[in-house]
Amino acid sequence: MKITISEVNKYVGEEVIIGAWLANKRSSGKIAFLQLRDGTGFIQGVVVKAEVDEEVFQKAKSITQETSLYVTGVVREDERSPFGYELTVTNIDVIHESVDYPITPKEHGTEFLMDHRHLWLRSKRQHAVMKIRNEIIRATYEFFNDRGFAKVDPPILTGSAPEGTTELFATKYFDEDAYLSQSGQLYMEAAAMALGKVFSFGPTFRAEKSKTRRHLIEFWMIEPEMAFTEHEESLKVQEEYVSHIVQSALKNCQLELTTLGRDVSKLENIKAPFPRISYDEAIEFLLEKGFDDIKWGDDFGAPHETAIAESYDKPVFITNYPKGIKPFYMQPAPDRDDVVLCADLIAPEGYGEIIGGSERIHDYNLMKQQIEAHGLNSGAYEWYLELSKYGSVPHSGFGLGLERTVAWISGVEHVRETIPFPRLLNRLYP
Ligand code: 4AD
Ligand code: MG
Repeated sequence: MKITISEVNKYVGEEVIIGAWLANKRSSGKIAFLQLRDGTGFIQGVVVKAEVDEEVFQKAKSITQETSLYVTGVVREDERSPFGYELTVTNIDVIHESVDYPITPKEHGTEFLMDHRHLWLRSKRQHAVMKIRNEIIRATYEFFNDRGFAKVDPPILTGSAPEGTTELFATKYFDEDAYLSQSGQLYMEAAAMALGKVFSFGPTFRAEKSKTRRHLIEFWMIEPEMAFTEHEESLKVQEEYVSHIVQSALKNCQLELTTLGRDVSKLENIKAPFPRISYDEAIEFLLEKGFDDIKWGDDFGAPHETAIAESYDKPVFITNYPKGIKPFYMQPAPDRDDVVLCADLIAPEGYGEIIGGSERIHDYNLMKQQIEAHGLNSGAYEWYLELSKYGSVPHSGFGLGLERTVAWISGVEHVRETIPFPRLLNRLYP
């Protein structure tokens, strides 16, 4: 019976065949321990000299790291293993030998590992992070599907720049200028007027010259957009959504979180509601904390966000930022027009902003004025302006950065480990 490692719990006491790679190996004169991986999981195979043909034992002793194999063995429960099962190996067939695998069990520098990302992905740690990423994506679809949102796919080649014109990847679209999408938001607004509640999930691009642990050039964003929805209602969706993905990862990725050494006690109480402070309060707080480099009207940097987040054991919403530091489409607050109805959600433990969201302007004249005031080439925004011309309604939405969220939940320091092939300031390879 050919099975995968993820299925061994159903075959205790039975002889099975598993297609696997040799991740690592230890052996003595009498016994060999094979660390096997097949993509679905990791299991230890035990080869006892006295119990197998001499040829099988010699093979077990000589196989090299990352050689591909068909391993035959009997599944046993094993309390000492974190996985709970072991394989008592009876036979080994080599499929393809791997010679001089570059990533050995010794320590390697980050640049070396990044140059070998195509192979580094096979490691236990990277495998765990990718599984957590996958679980967050699964839980995202579950959350929005359960609440009646339709998945809509905005284009990647666009003529507009919702988040400002400084960080664009320009390309030629035959004879026209085009950009790689910074955010699907404007298209999602159109979709919300057609389908009510929508969400997107796709790659977005920022030509940011930032070399920090939170910045990627290409990252994946989840962007929900809701018609007939005010900012306050959107905040509730955001906190419930983030709670759902954290609780799903805790429930379905226990082994992976253990592999990563994640302190899960820091995740267990991530449940809605989340605390909120206004931008005004945040400025006061920072001044009290001795940040004298900040004044009203400035945007927050990573140290500011971290200082604010440290006061809470849950993600915190910073609401109502000054109009001047936010994009053109945000709805002014009803009681004062120097701040907008928006919020950034700051993750705990120094992981920074994971969500940016707002209520959108739905007044035609105000929108027209904003597009002009921001010097946006109005031709490219004509279609967008028409959304507030024909049956405009209050609507709100947000964007969650997948990689920062995966980094936080996994407890990995840098976003480069949270996406299969990171695109960084100095890296397009592999
Ligand atoms: O705050 P941002 O720029 O918001 C938007 O793009 C809105 N149009 C979203 C919307 O309302 N539909 O980006 C949203 C999130 C950030 O909070 C952050 O998590 C992530 O995207 N993000 C990045 N992640 C990795 N690398 C980068 N360079 C990122 N820039 C933003
Ligand atoms: Mg933002």
